[in-house]
Amino acid sequence: MKAWRVHAHGGPDVLTPEDLSDPSPAADEAVVEVKACALNHLDLWVRRGVPGHNFPLPIIPGCDMAGVVKEVGSVVRNAKAGDRVVVAPGFGCGTCEACSEGNDNLCRDYGIMGETRDGGYAQYVKVPSRLLTPVPGDMAFEKIAAVPLTFLTAWHMLVARCGVKPGDDVLVHAAGSGVGSAAVQIAKLFGARVWATASTDAKRGKARDLGADDAFPYESFVEEVRRRTNKRGVDIVFEHVGSATFDGSLRCLAKGGRAVTCGATSGAEVKFDLRLVFFKSLSILGSTMGSRGEVLRILRLVGQGKLKPVVDRVMPLSEIRKAHEMLEKREQFGKIVVVP
Ligand SMILES: NC(=O)c1ccc[n+]([C@@H]2O[C@H](COP(=O)([O-])OP(=O)(O)OC[C@H]3O[C@@H](n4cnc5c(N)ncnc54)[C@H](OP(=O)(O)O)[C@@H]3O)[C@@H](O)[C@H]2O)c1
Ligand SMILES: [Zn+2]
Repeated sequence: MKAWRVHAHGGPDVLTPEDLSDPSPAADEAVVEVKACALNHLDLWVRRGVPGHNFPLPIIPGCDMAGVVKEVGSVVRNAKAGDRVVVAPGFGCGTCEACSEGNDNLCRDYGIMGETRDGGYAQYVKVPSRLLTPVPGDMAFEKIAAVPLTFLTAWHMLVARCGVKPGDDVLVHAAGSGVGSAAVQIAKLFGARVWATASTDAKRGKARDLGADDAFPYESFVEEVRRRTNKRGVDIVFEHVGSATFDGSLRCLAKGGRAVTCGATSGAEVKFDLRLVFFKSLSILGSTMGSRGEVLRILRLVGQGKLKPVVDRVMPLSEIRKAHEMLEKREQFGKIVVVP
């Protein structure tokens, strides 16, 4: 099969086209013909490398895939050749205490497709069969592939970690990011009032089209949020930008508010005034991925049209280096999807 692999970390050039032998499934695995694979910021970290973190190189990146089952292992019962499937990106061991309690993302052996094992920048991918779910209805592969990782992350942050509810004021940073474009929709679905940030007028317009009540530049979000909430502040800040926004995120929280974070795109070293945290009784919550059950609920809501994939553009896999450059330059709103 044709695949794009990373042998050593670096710029987009380290993504290398190769001819590899087709994967064959272990007893509990399936091989899926990849019809679409969505990019995530994680793909950039896998390609560039992260200090102090070891990725299993060489690796085929790509966390979010949809396609057609080609072959299944001998004990697989939940899928068969020819099925149209979407692949959940994360997997626990399935047997430990955390997994058994439905907290797969807290499993000590938690892994992610395209990060800890080969992913979707390829014609075929081998996956644990329990990650497969039928594509809802006749939804296009390019659309459904744009759902799993971003919606799961945003859902777990807002619903599981923060308990978002009707009447909450929520600030979603970078509404044009994968996770932000999901978060705007999820917060609205739960009846919250949603404020957003984005870097350009065009992206702020798209944030409003997606359901945000209003959107602001990064430079002025603290003042704008205070003004719009009558100086009260917001109940939840959806953080993933990191050092460029984190201090402001705490400053625009209401008393008792929660800042929930899954990322540090602009930098991981943050500085903030601890007095804000205790005087305002704030909570700072971390979040990574979510449970398999959450993925299934999200896919059901996507099937019902209540949550919508936000696809910025679809490109051939042969242009994967260009796709990485576009994501790095923040040119997208929502997801870039590649097709082998
Ligand atoms: N822990 C987890 O489970 C998990 C899961 C998913 C993602 N993440 C993390 O969450 C972050 C977002 O992921 P994603 O895939 O949604 O990313 P993405 O689609 O590539 O979007 C990144 C966004 O960051 C925004 N941004 C704001 N300030 C920035 C700055 N100074 N430098 C660079 N970008 C800046 C850009 O905003 P504009 O559009 O306004 O220009 C861009 O839209 C990443 O750090 C990712 O690693 C973590
Ligand atoms: Zn486990």
